[in-house]
Amino acid sequence: MRLDVFTLFPEWFAWFAGQRHVRNAVELGSELNLLHYRDSTPLTGGQVDDAPYGGGAGMVLRVDVVDAALHRAYDSSHDSPRVILLAPSGRPLDEPLAAELAQERHLALLCGRYEGVDERVREHLSDDTVSIGPYVLSGGELAAMVVADTVLRKLPGALGHADSAVEESFSEALDGAPEYPHYTRPASYRGWEVPEVLLSGDHGRVREWRLERSRERARSSA
Ligand SMILES: C[S@@+](CC[C@H](N)C(=O)[O-])C[C@H]1O[C@@H](n2cnc3c(N)ncnc32)[C@H](O)[C@@H]1O
Repeated sequence: MRLDVFTLFPEWFAWFAGQRHVRNAVELGSELNLLHYRDSTPLTGGQVDDAPYGGGAGMVLRVDVVDAALHRAYDSSHDSPRVILLAPSGRPLDEPLAAELAQERHLALLCGRYEGVDERVREHLSDDTVSIGPYVLSGGELAAMVVADTVLRKLPGALGHADSAVEESFSEALDGAPEYPHYTRPASYRGWEVPEVLLSGDHGRVREWRLERSRERARSSA
């Protein structure tokens, strides 16, 4: 998996790139590349944005700037990525979409800033528009990290324990339901007890209990 993030704030990703599962994915051959819009802007003085036509507050990331960034990154490459624009109004990111993106060999994530991105980027330069939720962030960087995180952790070897990403909330293994609760030591704390079945050693009963809790959570969140 090659993940290219186009941004005005590549330094935001320093912390993210240092996280264990991201480093694992990179050590196993994945790439996380940060590309700065200003490095390829065709405008003078590093300009990347402009005032919106029709007036209004804020500045808009220009289509020629995004186009130049994509050309610079991919013109000499045979490998064209699935280009994803991050926007509050995009397709909601959920587990099926994350699983779909994890199947791609190459993703490009376009981070907006300010008032947003010229609509022609969505219309002509991107394959999908993705939202991480119905709220507005200051920029696409955190959204890109959310997408990158959920995608990278699905890659074989990224997580310390290979099974961790198989049976978890919203996975096929749980029929798309939230995961069941977990408990660890101490078995009793301030009178709060771990369910007896989890201490029983009876794997069949434990399995049954977990699946029922998972279904219960699905019902209560519906
Ligand atoms: C301040 S926001 C622009 C919001 C835009 N004016 C609107 O009302 O929809 C700047 C950038 O942050 C990113 N962003 C903000 N919220 C997001 C979300 N929920 N999901 C994905 N990206 C988001 C997008 O890249 C967006 O272009």
